Amino acid sequence: VKHYAFFVSAIVAIAGLLIFTVPAPGHADEATAAAPYVTEMPQGYRDYQWVSSAHEAGNLNSLGAVLGNDIAMKAYREGKYPFPDGTIIAALHYKNVPSDENNKIFGKVQSFVPGAPTNIQFMIKNSSRYAATGGWGFGFFENGKPVAAASMKSCYPCHEKATDTDMVFTRYAP
Ligand code: HEC
Repeated sequence: VKHYAFFVSAIVAIAGLLIFTVPAPGHADEATAAAPYVTEMPQGYRDYQWVSSAHEAGNLNSLGAVLGNDIAMKAYREGKYPFPDGTIIAALHYKNVPSDENNKIFGKVQSFVPGAPTNIQFMIKNSSRYAATGGWGFGFFENGKPVAAASMKSCYPCHEKATDTDMVFTRYAP
């Protein structure tokens, strides 16, 4: 019986500690951690229209296609910032690889094409839902699955630097 009583009081003590270490609601760190991000890939994104492409060199060595839904394309073509709510911009990333097939034809290494898909990033405009991150919801998917919320914290502070273009870096390629 004695052991049991000790056990119960130990558990009560630990529970008490836990309750007092949990940050109070409204705590700044908690608010940032709770900033919502995009956890589901928008349906039909593969049918969006092409905005532009981007190659990132170095270790990434990636080839990216940036696509926009109809709302994004209309705003881009009208050159209107900020983008309206409902805008979705997708960045499809692939390994940048030489095409053996094409290079055989050229007789030298000249052709580079998308290799294995690496990730897909999204920016979805919804001024109220994503107010904490400038009205944009950020999403990062590998194999169709969202990455951990912690990996999403870097998106907003960097994209925020595109001050003249509503946090979007990619320009419309005519
Ligand atoms: C260090 C700065 C930086 C960080 C961090 C960053 N991005 Fe970007 N992002 C860029 C730049 C620069 C471009 C345009 C060049 C390119 O696509 O390679 C871009 C392009 C994009 C695009 C295409 C639309 C646009 O703005 O050009 C999307 C979508 C995107 N990023 C989403 C994300 C997401 C989601 C995250 C977080 C997981 C993220 N980015 C983190 C700098 C950043």
